[in-house]
Amino acid sequence: MQNKQERTSLHGLWSSRWAYILAATGSAVGLGNIWKFPYITGEHGGGAFVLFYLFCILLIGVPVLMAEVLIGRRGRRMPASSIQHLAIESKVSKHWSVIGWLGMTTGFLILTFYVVIAGWALAYVKLAGLDSFHQLSAQQVDSIFSALSSDPVALIAWSSIILLITMVIVGRGVQHGLERAVSYLMPMMFFILVIIVGYSMSTSGFERAVDFLFTPNWSELTASGALVALGHSCFTLSLASGIMMMYGAYLPNKTSIVKTSLFVAFADTFIALLAGLAIFPIVFSNGLEAGAGPGLIFVTLPIAFGQMPFGHEVGTLFFVMLVFAALTSAISLIEAVVAWLVERTTMTRIQAATLAGLTVWLLSLGTVFSLSTPEAVSFSLDILGLELQGTFFEFLDYITANIMLPLGALLIAVFTAWILKSEVTADEIKTHSLLYMTWKNLMRYLAPAAITLVFLNALGVI
Ligand code: PHE
Repeated sequence: MQNKQERTSLHGLWSSRWAYILAATGSAVGLGNIWKFPYITGEHGGGAFVLFYLFCILLIGVPVLMAEVLIGRRGRRMPASSIQHLAIESKVSKHWSVIGWLGMTTGFLILTFYVVIAGWALAYVKLAGLDSFHQLSAQQVDSIFSALSSDPVALIAWSSIILLITMVIVGRGVQHGLERAVSYLMPMMFFILVIIVGYSMSTSGFERAVDFLFTPNWSELTASGALVALGHSCFTLSLASGIMMMYGAYLPNKTSIVKTSLFVAFADTFIALLAGLAIFPIVFSNGLEAGAGPGLIFVTLPIAFGQMPFGHEVGTLFFVMLVFAALTSAISLIEAVVAWLVERTTMTRIQAATLAGLTVWLLSLGTVFSLSTPEAVSFSLDILGLELQGTFFEFLDYITANIMLPLGALLIAVFTAWILKSEVTADEIKTHSLLYMTWKNLMRYLAPAAITLVFLNALGVI
């Protein structure tokens, strides 16, 4: 056994528990909360979808989050190596490390479209800042969005800026880069969101929005809606993508995994619900469509910003906030790969961040062209009976969020609750036995069963 005092990561540690909480919350809170959660809620009918999503967060997301942090802290290395270390400690096959590789691949793939969407947000900071939406009709706003989306050069330019900022922050390391960035960006983001919710509460659509988000109508929840809610609960907590294992690797030994995980999940959920409360009142009070899809916040919101009092200021703040939220997630999405390159090669952090960034950049072109020339990169595929049709971007988004993440979460649940020795997990989780047993049973039975059921249901098998 290693001496606990000496266990530290090669990449350094968070300077405090609070620094870790900010970074993990920063990773969790991102485009998923502000861009994706509102539009998928709109597409899947509101209340019942939201409630099912909350159920997934609490009963699957939180326990899986705790498992990932536990693995990371015990292993103190990049995800696949940490898992291998734990497998050896429990005397089981080291091939379980495949979970780590799957996660890192998923995170990396997510980043390739994440930077493009974040690039949209950055472009909208400029547009909103220049008051470009002032008094425009819905059609005019729509054509601004279409013009941006169909211009590959603009998309590449904006997403490259996001990627560059990400690379610079990650290149600077855990304390000087990641920690410092999130400690400014997260509080600012929260403050801006609260201001916008305050504005939305004064609009005529507020009550309807509350009703839409919180009154479940179970007949509206379809099998595919349930799969999307499950996938999103993993996506929004940054699970099964190597990230929480990586951030756990930098966690000081004394910090409570239970308390910090609950805090991160609570903050993430609170911010997603706040984003819903910021966005839907504006959508409803302007007679716009809740189910508008990925363009929801880029098309419908600017229409409202163009009409409403202080729309220029609120609109600019909104997109600034979105960029902040996206950046604190983007840095986490690249961190595991950078840590891996540093551990396995002679590269410095800066070289590793540059190489990883350039690879992401190349792959992001697939998403860029999916938006600008969708015909050129569209296809249809049949995966185990799930018919997928659409562009490369839609395909990537679907596969990563709805298949790879839940599958990763399932494997993590099996690995920690069935394969690892109880002494190991109990030693890291360090809580009283009732809570530990609750966690273990959720991971042993509920999480695998629920994920499998939702999968089978979506495939039409049951
Ligand atoms: N959780 C982030 C968000 O909600 C995105 C993300 C997904 C980050 C998966 C890491 C891994 O935007």
